[in-house]
Amino acid sequence: SALRDVVAALPKVELHVHLVGSAGIETVTSLARRHPASGVPTDAAQLREFFTFRDFDHFLKVYWAVQQLLRDSTDIHTLVTGLAADLAAQNCRYAEVTVTPYNHLLDGIPGDELLTGLATGRAAAAEEHGVDLAWCFDIPGEKGTKAGKETLVFALTNRPEGLVSLGLGGPEVGVGRAQFEPYFTAAREAGLHSVPHAGETTGPATIWSAVHDLGAERIGHGTSCTSDPALLEYLGTHGIPLEVCPTSNVCTRQVPSIEAHPVRRMLDHGLLVTLNTDDPPMFGVTLNGEYLAVAETLRLRPAELARLARNGVEASFLEGPARAGLL
Ligand code: ADE
Ligand code: ZN
Repeated sequence: SALRDVVAALPKVELHVHLVGSAGIETVTSLARRHPASGVPTDAAQLREFFTFRDFDHFLKVYWAVQQLLRDSTDIHTLVTGLAADLAAQNCRYAEVTVTPYNHLLDGIPGDELLTGLATGRAAAAEEHGVDLAWCFDIPGEKGTKAGKETLVFALTNRPEGLVSLGLGGPEVGVGRAQFEPYFTAAREAGLHSVPHAGETTGPATIWSAVHDLGAERIGHGTSCTSDPALLEYLGTHGIPLEVCPTSNVCTRQVPSIEAHPVRRMLDHGLLVTLNTDDPPMFGVTLNGEYLAVAETLRLRPAELARLARNGVEASFLEGPARAGLL
């Protein structure tokens, strides 16, 4: 369709994509074959079945199974370059990719193997795919303050090239944002940006806490913000962008459909909405697919679509000529 061509031609950025969740069927198949004890299916049909989610907890179980396939720098490199190829195919020029070092270290991959795979993968992404990658190291919230402290220390002691932010992911229910305040404060003092998930699976109070306690500069998801007029007002006047991942929210059963997604109300309130994929192959989506779904559902004009792509660049932590080049 004409709209599909408009979407494909737009230069885009991706601000909310998890490295583990970006593994395509091909990548997971080859990793599963290399690590047969994992229990992850090795054929494409079985994998697609495996990737069909019943609910958010089931999604996280699948996600964690794929994570356990990552044993050395070669596995990480394979994953990063696979993501870069997928991004290039979406005409996505820049991505802030969420990596969860604490989980990888728990699974037994040495820190230097992880860092080496990220660095060589990032270099190959730029050289072979023309995609500029940045990293968000995120805290797996369900593992508590120990994970918070160790993620911060890992980030600041290694300070890999391309690291721009500290994040907070995992389930939100029973995982208060405020307990992570010391780590976000220290990260911000060290020049990293604050990008927690909030309001994906819980209400607006979690988003308020992300803003007040963690100094959030962007909100991962923020889906529930539309149920609180004061919060909508706050996010609007402070220009705090939302990393909206519409299909992800449908797949994890947080919203019934794209039609019913609060993205319409976010835009109506003038919020800085960006479109993202979260865990693209796991949710069977692409970045262009998300743009197209929202454009069709909201009947956006090409100029409004271009505005959404531009929002992504504005909300990004790109600096200097690279930022100017995309604006
Ligand atoms: N990790 C990977 N995807 C996630 C999501 N959508 N929410 C929280 N943690 C995640
Ligand atoms: Zn996410």
